[in-house]
Amino acid sequence: MLRQLYESHCDLLMGVPVTGRYADDKPQLLFTAPYYVMTQVVVAPTVGGVASLEGLQGKLVGVQAMTLSDQLAYERGWNRKVYLKSEELFAALVSSEVDAVVVESVFAGPFLRKSPGFRGLAVRDPQRELPIGAVVRKTDAELKDAVDRALKTLRDKSVPDILSRYGIMLAQAAPPPASEPAPLSAQLRSARSTYLTQCSQCHGTDANGTPAAANLRAFKGTEDDFLRVVRNGRPGTAMTPWKGLIDDDDIRNIARYIKGL
Ligand code: HEC
Repeated sequence: MLRQLYESHCDLLMGVPVTGRYADDKPQLLFTAPYYVMTQVVVAPTVGGVASLEGLQGKLVGVQAMTLSDQLAYERGWNRKVYLKSEELFAALVSSEVDAVVVESVFAGPFLRKSPGFRGLAVRDPQRELPIGAVVRKTDAELKDAVDRALKTLRDKSVPDILSRYGIMLAQAAPPPASEPAPLSAQLRSARSTYLTQCSQCHGTDANGTPAAANLRAFKGTEDDFLRVVRNGRPGTAMTPWKGLIDDDDIRNIARYIKGL
């Protein structure tokens, strides 16, 4: 898919992760702001099924191979059965071959919409929440800006409507952070995009922290303190210095963006 973009067979790809981990080794590309956040969802029968995540211990949980849900089930020590395709996975759920499945919200939503006998339990694992956006070639900065502008006007109503139509809102407990009520200024939008691509994999897509790093919304210092920590890093931790990589003004804008969350 990326090759089509690199070789100019298309100009824009939708549905790509906008995280540092994904973007870092793709310096020829520009990522837009995210338009939704993909999460993981446990789907189980409404009657007689598991009613909470704790209830999954000792049950057989279906997953699709190599997905974030698969990793999640593995790490939580759930007794998992691996399927190659999502259709096989849901077929196993419907035929009671497994007690529940864990899937990405994009698969859970459409299934829940057409399967009234099942319910979704949102898994809140910030480390696996994946902000999803679009990507263009680095030479197409104007296109990226235009997409960001379009996303901004679509964000409050059209995007949630579309996600509901596919059941994705149904599958997610909380609305994605891409739909903050107040429109952001150009600086704050750019700060958000830097935050999501460079910082969110450790500090969480909503800056609430992850097991890997602190909750930045609870940061007690001033903006100058924030700037100092980000410039110099925290020696001996995964917080590396960003001096020279992100401008001071941009770091200040990240601090303001987080403050506004
Ligand atoms: C690879 C993981 C990682 C990335 C990426 C990362 N950080 Fe950190 N950050 C940490 C860790 C670890 C700490 C220090 C330990 C802690 O407080 O959790 C930290 C600490 C901080 C602190 C101090 C928090 C406090 O309460 O004292 C700030 C501010 C901060 N980071 C901002 C950022 C910003 C802004 C970015 C993006 C430009 C960023 N971090 C990217 C891991 C990361």
